[in-house]
Amino acid sequence: MTDSYVAAIDQGTTSSRCIVFDRAGAIVAVEQREHRQIFPRPGWVEHDAAEIWTKVQAVVAGALARAGLRADELSALGITNQRETTVLWDRTTGKPVHNAIVWQDTRTSALCHELASTAQCGQDRFRQATGLPLASYFSGPKVAWLLDHVPGLRRRAENGEIAFGTVDSWLIWNLTGGTDGGTHVTDVTNASRTMLMNLATLQWDPAILGAMNIPEAVLPEIRSSSEVYGRAVGRLAGVPVASALGDQQAAVFGQTCFGVGEAKNTYGTGSFLLLNTGERPVASKNGLLTTVGYRLGGEPPVYCLEGSIAVTGSLVQWFRDQLGLIRSADEIEPLAASVPDNGGAYIVPAFSGLYAPYWRSDARGVITGLTGYVTKAHLARAVLEATSWQTREVVDAMYQDSGVRITSLKVDGGMTVNGLLMQHQADVLGVPVIRPVISETTCLGAAYAAGLATGVWRNPEELRSHWRRDAEWTPRLGAAAREGEYRNWRKAVERSFGWHE
Ligand code: G3P
Repeated sequence: MTDSYVAAIDQGTTSSRCIVFDRAGAIVAVEQREHRQIFPRPGWVEHDAAEIWTKVQAVVAGALARAGLRADELSALGITNQRETTVLWDRTTGKPVHNAIVWQDTRTSALCHELASTAQCGQDRFRQATGLPLASYFSGPKVAWLLDHVPGLRRRAENGEIAFGTVDSWLIWNLTGGTDGGTHVTDVTNASRTMLMNLATLQWDPAILGAMNIPEAVLPEIRSSSEVYGRAVGRLAGVPVASALGDQQAAVFGQTCFGVGEAKNTYGTGSFLLLNTGERPVASKNGLLTTVGYRLGGEPPVYCLEGSIAVTGSLVQWFRDQLGLIRSADEIEPLAASVPDNGGAYIVPAFSGLYAPYWRSDARGVITGLTGYVTKAHLARAVLEATSWQTREVVDAMYQDSGVRITSLKVDGGMTVNGLLMQHQADVLGVPVIRPVISETTCLGAAYAAGLATGVWRNPEELRSHWRRDAEWTPRLGAAAREGEYRNWRKAVERSFGWHE
């Protein structure tokens, strides 16, 4: 067997990473760079897409250098990315026309209310077509906002001078030549987060484009998640750019959740729990999203139900940077472990409102249960527990929607190094929590999809054989204690409603 290497770019909310994998799915080299978070006003979050492109080029070069590989030794390049974040650029100059509006940004809340208020089904106006409730999280309203607020932009967009893309599109366009013939495409998983794609046809929905007043001329072509979109130019000249998946869907793929009923939870800036529901979209009645999981070339798409939680890992950052109660993120585990429980305190981190299963833009963060007894160690515990309680809520919603009761949960992402959190997660779910050896499942999924498109791997079954268990946490808490604490958590959540608008 000759050596084959596949590189994957993971363009995330706070950093860009490139990982080179070998044919066994093992990591050969990693390079990572952070980019600026721009907060022009409370609730607004932007990124500089040009900076992101520069950082992406740097991490690719760095990873190749660390691996000791030339570009022509790569069989394929895959892309995975923060989803929903919206870039508009000038097709002639290749320059973004405004900072990218990040998924967490709440500036379109009023527009979403307006769109909801003119329909009988309110917030669910586009849910049947797109699987999504009207919320500031998704790209469509962000595009509309930019077209309405950047002077002259709407006219230029209507003339075909402007391109829209989520970050996958922006990167593929640049990688394949940019102003010199770059390919303007996106994949079905990213398109399913724009609120502009119809889940049944997998095409842009003309009625929704009309309702949001978005000209078709700005849109990329929707393609599968695993196919050669084009060949890279520049430093990566000739390498097939062969996959694109939103980061959470890429993690589903990297965790090899290929069967109906298989689920994973990724703990990053936020946490995103996805359940594979097979070839038919399942409509949610309990605050989950219906989304495309992946589509391999011309095969039928695979759909997922998703519980999106906006703030989990970023609550630890807030505890460190805004409250200054720890110096580095890894200090939170020993601090939390220095006390036996949360001392009665609960933190509901509704910093961007609450996402699943509530979708409440009026929610804001609260700390409840404070007494003079509570110390920063109890708060550290409450920070970690906020992640597992929010996850419990989406697992319950998933059961109500699908009838599938998970028997274990595959986990990945940065926070899974925190054993105290993982134990608490197992305790509050009442099922084992399992972490694989390669917890970089987001990059791995993008690499797998790119390698499948280019013949590095034959089929998904071959990929399953790479998956190895690294650690498992089994529940220790009794049902009575668990459900009692869950009631307290839900009371705290109620207190977070009604603070905004
Ligand atoms: O939907 C938002 C999600 O894709 C962001 O993921 O890992 O960059 O926080 P992450």
